[in-house]
Amino acid sequence: MSKDKLWGGRFTQPTDAFVEEFTASIQFDKRLYHQDIRGSIAHARMLGKQGIIPLENVEQIVHGLRTILGQIEAGEFDFSISLEDIHMNIEARLSAAIGEAGKRLHTGRSRNDQVALDIRLYLRDEIVEITTYLDLLIDALLIQAEANLDTLMPGFTHLQTAQPILFAHHLMAYVEMFKRDKGRLEDCSRRANVLPLGAGALAGTTFPIDREYVAEQLEFPAITRNSLDAVSDRDFVLEFLAAASIVMMHLSRFSEELILWSTSAFRFIELSDGFCTGSSIMPQKKNPDVPELVRGKTGRVYGNLMALLTTMKALPLAYNKDMQEDKEPLFDTIDTVKGSLKIFAEMIREMKVNRENMRKAAGDGFSTATDVADYLVRKGLPFRDAHEVVGKAVGYCVKNKVDITDLTLAEWQQFSTKIDADIFECCTVEASVNARNIPGGTARERVWSEIQNVRAGN
Ligand code: ARG
Repeated sequence: MSKDKLWGGRFTQPTDAFVEEFTASIQFDKRLYHQDIRGSIAHARMLGKQGIIPLENVEQIVHGLRTILGQIEAGEFDFSISLEDIHMNIEARLSAAIGEAGKRLHTGRSRNDQVALDIRLYLRDEIVEITTYLDLLIDALLIQAEANLDTLMPGFTHLQTAQPILFAHHLMAYVEMFKRDKGRLEDCSRRANVLPLGAGALAGTTFPIDREYVAEQLEFPAITRNSLDAVSDRDFVLEFLAAASIVMMHLSRFSEELILWSTSAFRFIELSDGFCTGSSIMPQKKNPDVPELVRGKTGRVYGNLMALLTTMKALPLAYNKDMQEDKEPLFDTIDTVKGSLKIFAEMIREMKVNRENMRKAAGDGFSTATDVADYLVRKGLPFRDAHEVVGKAVGYCVKNKVDITDLTLAEWQQFSTKIDADIFECCTVEASVNARNIPGGTARERVWSEIQNVRAGN
């Protein structure tokens, strides 16, 4: 009913009940209660310091807000749809509890700058948490990488066996991705970490507020420089959704590999039972549900990014109600990314590696053919000619159903007279891996030092 509305003054008709429900955000923005109260306390203290409201009102407001915080945390707060959102739910309850002083809190402020503040505070904290989950996953990968410094596997291109690599090297590739993800989130956090309060509804405020003092209390290193931009900017949410989409893309690629590696065709790894489920009809089945779901949930995170980009694309300055649609995609993304990272870290820690199968597959598919070509280059042949020679030798092996490691010296010499007995040392998978001894390569000592590098925080 318009009479209980904080903005009811100019209205004569009550709000239709369904319209009320349709336009409300309290169902989901109640998540912001902590940030809303924290922001209001800082705002009230500033109003008092500036002599805009009486100092005794400030104490009543702070006390009243803390009481409300306790009630919400104890589950004793009755959120009301007719009060639309978290901001008005809290403000109305405050006024009901402390009267006049409560009604002074909103001086020099609008819900437009208030909601921008709440989201920035919220996202800032959530990014710290997500970064902690990324660290847990990186730790799990480092532990597995260290334990698999002698595990050989086939490296693939086009999902065809390409060259042998260390399993540790493969895992460390994901460490690189997740480190970049951390960097993107930190970067996004830097731009979110700016105080918008003081923008008012759109044009600033007539009261002599001290924005720097509010920023200091809320630990914002900077304040926004344009009031219109401050209330209409959701770039920081979009940046976060984009960074989160990339995190999910990485997790999804990793999921795909884990799913593939646990098939009976590969049998490279085994996920522990806790991360799999069975089939209701096929008794032999052990399905990699967790990586499958993470791969699946990547879709909803991309969808959230697209949803908000689309919501924002034609909005005139400054605030528009459309922007209330920023919250559900943001909250859903935060929950999905945190859940996925948390479960992944544990799954990787518990993953069992089938070294023998990986080692066997590492030598399949003429995986050391490039090493023979490189050998011929060292003997003076131009690389293109060497490539041709080895191609012919591979063709010969295919025809005779043998591996290149089975060829005798005489057989090798049919393809090039430059080949000597030292050919046999260069075409084993171990030699192939350790020959790639350059920065960023898969040689054991390089991978080992990369693990130490990351451990040291580089
Ligand atoms: N619930 C609103 C939101 O989430 C708060 C801002 C409302 N401002 C307004 N002028 N109606 O965006």
